[in-house]
Amino acid sequence: MIPYKHEPFTNFSLEENAQAIREAIAYVDSYLGEEYPLTIGGEKVTTEDKIVSYNPADKNQVIGSVSKASRELAEKAMDVAYETFQTWRKVKPETRADILFKAAAIIRRRKHEFSALLVREAGKPWNEADADTAEAIDFLEYYARQMLRLKDGYKVESRVGEYNQFGYIPLGVGIVISPWNFPFAIMAGTAVAAIVTGNTVLLKPASTTPVVAAKFVEVMEEAGLPAGVLNFVPGSGSEIGDYLIDHPKTRFVSFTGSRDVGTRIYERAAVVQPGQIWLKRVIAEMGGKDTIVVDSDGDLELAAKSIVASAFGFSGQKCSACSRAVIVEDVYDQVLERAVELTKELQVGNPVDGKLFMGPVIDQAAYDKIMSYIDIAKEEGRIVAGGEGDDSTGYFVQPTIVADVDPNARLMQEEIFGPVVAFSKAKDFNHALEIANNTEYGLTGAVITRDRAKIEQAREDFHVGNLYFNRGCTGAIVGYQPFGGFNMSGTDSKAGGPDYLVLHMQAKTTSETL
Ligand code: NAD
Ligand code: ALA
Repeated sequence: MIPYKHEPFTNFSLEENAQAIREAIAYVDSYLGEEYPLTIGGEKVTTEDKIVSYNPADKNQVIGSVSKASRELAEKAMDVAYETFQTWRKVKPETRADILFKAAAIIRRRKHEFSALLVREAGKPWNEADADTAEAIDFLEYYARQMLRLKDGYKVESRVGEYNQFGYIPLGVGIVISPWNFPFAIMAGTAVAAIVTGNTVLLKPASTTPVVAAKFVEVMEEAGLPAGVLNFVPGSGSEIGDYLIDHPKTRFVSFTGSRDVGTRIYERAAVVQPGQIWLKRVIAEMGGKDTIVVDSDGDLELAAKSIVASAFGFSGQKCSACSRAVIVEDVYDQVLERAVELTKELQVGNPVDGKLFMGPVIDQAAYDKIMSYIDIAKEEGRIVAGGEGDDSTGYFVQPTIVADVDPNARLMQEEIFGPVVAFSKAKDFNHALEIANNTEYGLTGAVITRDRAKIEQAREDFHVGNLYFNRGCTGAIVGYQPFGGFNMSGTDSKAGGPDYLVLHMQAKTTSETL
């Protein structure tokens, strides 16, 4: 087998690649507005009630409409998934892995089409869309290989006259709930991690980006996934979300999204329902309030570039995005000034032509929330770049830097999830680390320094799941930088890491007397 290597990113400065994605966008445009059914067992179910997906850069453009599961249909999907589990759990891990390899191959062949769909449905610039598609492929390739490693369990000792074995078996029916900001990679990655380990799934994608999820379900079917293993049930959190979380047949929940929804799911899932015979497992990947720390002897140009790229890539709508820059005071003005210069060069607009750095934010609610934080910024600091928005055609917010913010200010504590970064001054490196840790989250962070001792100090004391040195804090690669955070950023799991699949299984020991 070819060793795992991450999917390379496309260089769109080459005309042939730029042309390829332009053609893919034209192709995607030819199917905009189509309808997508639910998938329950092998059955395609069309409902009256729909979720309509719009282009955030051009808010009247309909991407597609997706049938919306009611409680009755969610119940039907649960029954099918529960029944299918009895057969799927016995399918050989090798066969399950092969389906993922095949799906990866199909997506690789349609790579630009998927990226084009992400440009339209999520407002991603070409490079961000390409990275999302590449990450989806990586999850398929990586988890398939991981399953092949885990399939025989681990060796345990046996005494004379006995034969002991230790292996993993699947859990049961999993509810997979995914966010809109990596609508392909995280949706596909969390679904296939559950599937390859032998579980059956009810997939509830984010309501702003359901079309890419519907396309992914088609790919899994084409790859040979048996009916009933992956059931596609988009729907509202209040109508089917709570219902499925509470359901006594739900064995586990794999959630990626905000702190508030994740915490609610965690609490609800803990309640044992009548007829429930297990404790539900929850894998939750939640928000972040991520910091780049700049030390006085760091490379200041690198610092400014890393802050700007991490704060404003995909309009700051990454859980890993830099939303706090903490700079040691003797270099604070220099880094701030350079970051402002770089930010003023960034152009915002419809990402379709590939020339602009930043596209829109996802929807009106996100736009309104971000603009309300920009109002707060006027009280809590100095807006030195950006600060404006325009929602007349799409949801565009200028990349915004807020200087001189107190570490305890709302801007430094609350997840804004938009292109807004707060700068805070630290007395020295120790103080900078103290500020960096002064948040309830613990997802990503970065330190810019040339001092080896400070790198080691941060390695020990900067409490985040993904810590980077002398680079930005976004862009983890599956299988290279396993991803996931501490504290209120989640349940400490690491997507794309060697121990991730085990979270979807339970270990069984057998001991035979010979
Ligand atoms: P969200 O919490 O609003 O929604 C996430 C998903 O939960 C969506 O599919 C939504 O439909 C669903 N949902 C909402 N209410 C529900 C309920 N009551 N029951 C069941 N499901 C329900 O988050 P979002 O706006 O889609 O995504 C952005 C958030 O996700 C940010 O906070 C970001 O930091 C976080 N995120 C975290 C990671 C990570 O790996 N830690 C990765 C991506 C995004
Ligand atoms: N995995 C994504 C990143 O690291 C969220 O930016």
